[in-house]
Amino acid sequence: MIVEPKVKGFICTTAHPEGCKESVKRQIEYVKKLGKINCPKNVLVIGASTGYGLASRITAAFGGGAATIGVMFEKESNGKRTASPGFYNTRAFEELAHNEGLYAKSVNGDAFSREIKNQVIDIIKKDMGKVDFVVYSLAAPRRTTEDGVTYQSVLKTTSEDFTNKSWNLSDNTVSEATITPATEEEINATVKVMGGEDWIDWISSLKEADAISDNAVTMAYSYIGPKLTYPVYYNGTIGMAKKHLYDSSLKINEMFKESGIKAYVSVNKALVTQASSAIPIVPLYFAILYRVMKEMNIHEGCIEQMTRLFRDKLFGGKVETDEMGQIRMDDWEMREDVQKKVMDIWDKINTDNILREADVEGYWEDFYHMFGFKYDNVDYEKDVEIL
Ligand code: NAI
Repeated sequence: MIVEPKVKGFICTTAHPEGCKESVKRQIEYVKKLGKINCPKNVLVIGASTGYGLASRITAAFGGGAATIGVMFEKESNGKRTASPGFYNTRAFEELAHNEGLYAKSVNGDAFSREIKNQVIDIIKKDMGKVDFVVYSLAAPRRTTEDGVTYQSVLKTTSEDFTNKSWNLSDNTVSEATITPATEEEINATVKVMGGEDWIDWISSLKEADAISDNAVTMAYSYIGPKLTYPVYYNGTIGMAKKHLYDSSLKINEMFKESGIKAYVSVNKALVTQASSAIPIVPLYFAILYRVMKEMNIHEGCIEQMTRLFRDKLFGGKVETDEMGQIRMDDWEMREDVQKKVMDIWDKINTDNILREADVEGYWEDFYHMFGFKYDNVDYEKDVEIL
């Protein structure tokens, strides 16, 4: 089949198998070029198929020589429609890892469920004994808890309407968007989905099954961002979930103090991923940030962030944290000089100058790459097997 991108708003409904493989390959090459990383050797990545989770898995495997088990929730192809990108990414990752003699197994299913937790634990016990590093990188729209209740996360404010500039991705116009406040129930539901309850459940389940080593490390990802996006992010529903995620890291440290298990939250940089493109107002900030950081030669993608995290901040000898104990991978994004330039542009950006003032091209390049499109060395005219 000839696979072409079908973009609807902030989502692409097709994915290119060869292009996804190319994206994984490029990340692996980047990691290998930087040389060996001293990281734990038995690694579980929950949310391992795209974005930060995939980059973490690639860094652990190809930088650290680690055996990895990845958990993800991806659609397979039915022969007519393509699979989701994470499906092709995972298949490519496994193939390339196996070629180098690296252990890699993946479980495609709902990480929130007991069934998938048990399945993963069985694999760990059989193949690894115990894991010593657990990355929790889920970005999910909903979660069904074990009592059968389904919670839906929302991207809203928690107090009043928030109106600001927004970039209409379909026609490159800048207009205003208003984000409305969530109800108490919606806030709680978002915390249920994107907070740390399930992270704690994973670590507890691993511990109960004796499938996690003493002194193991676990890490989840968060975001803070500039004051500009506080109403929709940091103080919004997703921010409430991230506060819960942070509190959960403290809870894990307390619960498993005797085994020396250590939980960290890493605050990462804003990057175009499937999860982040869905947040209103935020993509315009991203496109401006990309331009500023690229001009200053400090732009990073997921793989650059994760290699720097593993190499310098987490496994570089001493864990580098802020006063709250969080790892700050947003250190360059939040630099005063960067933010000053971003805000100057934000103030003057409009439909007439967006193509000049923001990195619209870079945003779309990342977007298409996520689905395996627009790689110059992939032949998109060629028939590909989509199964
Ligand atoms: P993503 O959408 O690229 O990846 C999400 C992963 O979760 C995928 O592997 C997907 O298959 C998996 N997943 C979703 N629901 C699942 C389920 N029910 N069961 C099993 N797997 C499931 O997202 P991204 O951006 O890499 O986000 C990962 C984490 O990083 C999130 O916590 C996000 O908030 C955080 N983060 C993202 C930033 C960004 O700008 N993209 C910035 C800072 C933090």
